[in-house]
Amino acid sequence: MAGAHVRSGTGLRFPAGGSLTSNPKYGNKQHEAQMAGKGFTVKKDWDNPREHAMPADARVPAAVCLGTVRVTPATVLAPMAGVTDTVFRRFIRHASLFTAAAGSDEAGPGESAIEADVTNTQSGCGLLMTEFTSADGLSRMRESKRKRYLTFYDDEHPIGAQLFGSNPETLADAARIVEDTGFNLVDLNLGCPAKRVVGCNGGSGLLRDLPRVGELFRAVRKAVTIPFTVKFRLGWNDNQIICVELARMAEAEGLNAVALHARTREQGYTGQARWEWIAQIKQTVRIPVIGNGDIRTPEDAAAMVAQTGCDAVMIGRAAPSNPWIFRQIAQYTATGRYELPTVQDRYRMIRAYFQMLLDEAAASQVLPRDARHGETAGKMKQFASWFTHGVPGGAKLRAAIYQMRTGAEVLAQVDAFFQAKLDGGETEPESEREETSAFPEDALVCD
Ligand SMILES: Cc1cc2nc3c(=O)[nH]c(=O)nc-3n(C[C@H](O)[C@H](O)[C@H](O)COP(=O)(O)O)c2cc1C
Repeated sequence: MAGAHVRSGTGLRFPAGGSLTSNPKYGNKQHEAQMAGKGFTVKKDWDNPREHAMPADARVPAAVCLGTVRVTPATVLAPMAGVTDTVFRRFIRHASLFTAAAGSDEAGPGESAIEADVTNTQSGCGLLMTEFTSADGLSRMRESKRKRYLTFYDDEHPIGAQLFGSNPETLADAARIVEDTGFNLVDLNLGCPAKRVVGCNGGSGLLRDLPRVGELFRAVRKAVTIPFTVKFRLGWNDNQIICVELARMAEAEGLNAVALHARTREQGYTGQARWEWIAQIKQTVRIPVIGNGDIRTPEDAAAMVAQTGCDAVMIGRAAPSNPWIFRQIAQYTATGRYELPTVQDRYRMIRAYFQMLLDEAAASQVLPRDARHGETAGKMKQFASWFTHGVPGGAKLRAAIYQMRTGAEVLAQVDAFFQAKLDGGETEPESEREETSAFPEDALVCD
């Protein structure tokens, strides 16, 4: 483990394996679009469940090798700016803990207990990704400032760092920094639709300039020995779908895997992800293909694998609203069923995350004290919003915490909310999600 700022061990306590209540299926519901509160927007297509015609044996693979990095199970936490910082990544990894004890008692007739090839006792999430980081910024920054962007802990391995940029030399420099810091792989972002990124020809802007993409591939490939992957969209718009060609280039230039968010840049987050393009790429290249877009449930993950043949699945928006998703996928893979959280599980989970945020703010030297506390309160609010979408009464809580100024105030609101539920005898697992899941519009800045 390299890098002085990489610290180990968290001593975190999470709900023990098996504490979730068994339920054969996570209920899906057709939702009406509705505003859930100021600043929130409802992603209509995201909320509409996908219909699956799924073979009974559809399963997420137990492992995939991205070059020398073995990812087991074959599930990846998507890079998400403003979300997948070190605290969130560790939170997900621990929330995903899944052991043989977690479900073996509950396997029904004809169902296997947790099987050997999926007993990932570390985590149901096989690979963590950082938020995207500017290669230009990184290569110019002082060592001390880099910590802010590249901090990770020992329990985050395997972990990949994502970069964006359009200059081959700076991207190569930044990739070297990523390698020297101890990341297991480096990923190039060719999907971010944000104007300020596209304006510098970065992110999805590069989808219109394949010769430049070739230069970037070669420069980074030459600069590092760790596995190198790329994440991209279908193309700029429907008239310029270049994802298959891009995947072919990636393979020819020695990249170790490709990840496709199956939408165009112009699509943003509208419409459904077009998984058929993941299948096209899978039929074209021999390097691993990671499928991404609209996985909300274990059934979705299994269906994506069944429909596209992809080697791994990547999950973004579902993770903050349902941090158990990776564990549920692992359990579903093993037994064909998975567990749903109870109100108590949910309460424990949000408490655990908040504690991690507070611990990190106390330990971090990167920002001044006030800024750290402000950031922590902001992250608490953000997470409480995502995490309580679909929870009965969640809209009221979100409206209340929107007004809060400090982490302690947010925590007090959350405590009161869950305590009232528990006092009222709400201990059963949630059945159907009551409200739409939503992301603040301004959070959808990038991909
Ligand atoms: C808040 C937010 C931030 C994101 N930031 C990034 C990013 O930094 N890099 C990237 O490649 N994709 C980013 N994405 C896109 C996701 O990685 C993913 O491709 C997209 O959300 C589709 O997957 P999903 O349907 O599982 O959410 C972001 C998405 C969201 C919602």
